[in-house]
Amino acid sequence: MATIKDVAKQAGVSVATVSRVLNDNGYVHGNTRKLVIEAIQQLSYKPNEVARSLFKKKSRLIGLLLPDIRNPFFPELARGIEDEIQEQGYQLIIGNIDEKYPKEMDYIQTFQQNNVTGIITATNLTGRSHYDDLSSPVVFLDRTFNDHPSVFADGIEGGRMAASELVKRGSKRITILKGPAQLQTAQDRFNGAIAWLRAEKVDFSVIETSSFSFSDAEMWAKELFEKYPDTDGILASNDVVAAAVLHEALRLGKAIPEDLQLIGFDDIPLSRLLFPPLSTIRQPAYDMGKEAAKLLIRLINKETHFEKNIRMPVMFIERQTTRKVEENG
Ligand code: RIB
Repeated sequence: MATIKDVAKQAGVSVATVSRVLNDNGYVHGNTRKLVIEAIQQLSYKPNEVARSLFKKKSRLIGLLLPDIRNPFFPELARGIEDEIQEQGYQLIIGNIDEKYPKEMDYIQTFQQNNVTGIITATNLTGRSHYDDLSSPVVFLDRTFNDHPSVFADGIEGGRMAASELVKRGSKRITILKGPAQLQTAQDRFNGAIAWLRAEKVDFSVIETSSFSFSDAEMWAKELFEKYPDTDGILASNDVVAAAVLHEALRLGKAIPEDLQLIGFDDIPLSRLLFPPLSTIRQPAYDMGKEAAKLLIRLINKETHFEKNIRMPVMFIERQTTRKVEENG
């Protein structure tokens, strides 16, 4: 594999000149630059990224921290980020922080050791200051921090939307699976739903939950039907939990949506493949990722005068776990 010395020899210049061309740093005469570029192409030379990042003090890497890579919502965020940053010549490195502070700190340190140029984080721990003194810009995504650059979906509107769609279709004995108390995303959608239900004087019950994971979702689903067997409308904290509720409802022999309606939250790709396909509130995860990447690149490029807190709209996706409005009469 060709080295920077081979390029210098081929072009008839010093290694320092080749380095200035590679890092676009310092003056190089036009003809000399042309000779160096031709030598790079002739030798198919690939710069050593680690060496380059040490010189530049910044790499072409962007770090992404996700709370649980097993939840299908987060890969949608990551894909939107990656598609956007690659167009700008950056590459993504992902850390799965398992919603644990020590693991999150380890990844932040790893990102800094690799001279990442910026970080996008969907941390659970927005209240802590562990992002305040980093050398590279940070964008909070989904789990956000109001006085930091953030991209998030309108959870309050999503909760209101889910509650009104359920009642519009005839549900009267409503149960809400409240998501993890420490997550603003979960609290926003819960508060949006109960504010609407209270305003409309519609009774509801609540099942407290402490995670969004597949492993716990089955437990919440069983608890729900043990406590509220006659419920006729369920608002799930996310699609993973909704899938577990659907599974348990069908196991108990309930007719969906005739006996029981169900609305999820996220609209992960799996939701349309469930049987019956899940009605849910779509968060534009892919576009949220793209917007977070655009915001981070503006910060990296030290642009000014742009929106740093981006709230994105959600929408109701009607499938077959809710009745058609006309059916409700
Ligand atoms: O399903 C994962 C949940 O955690 C999503 O609703 C998303 O908003 C994140 O906060």
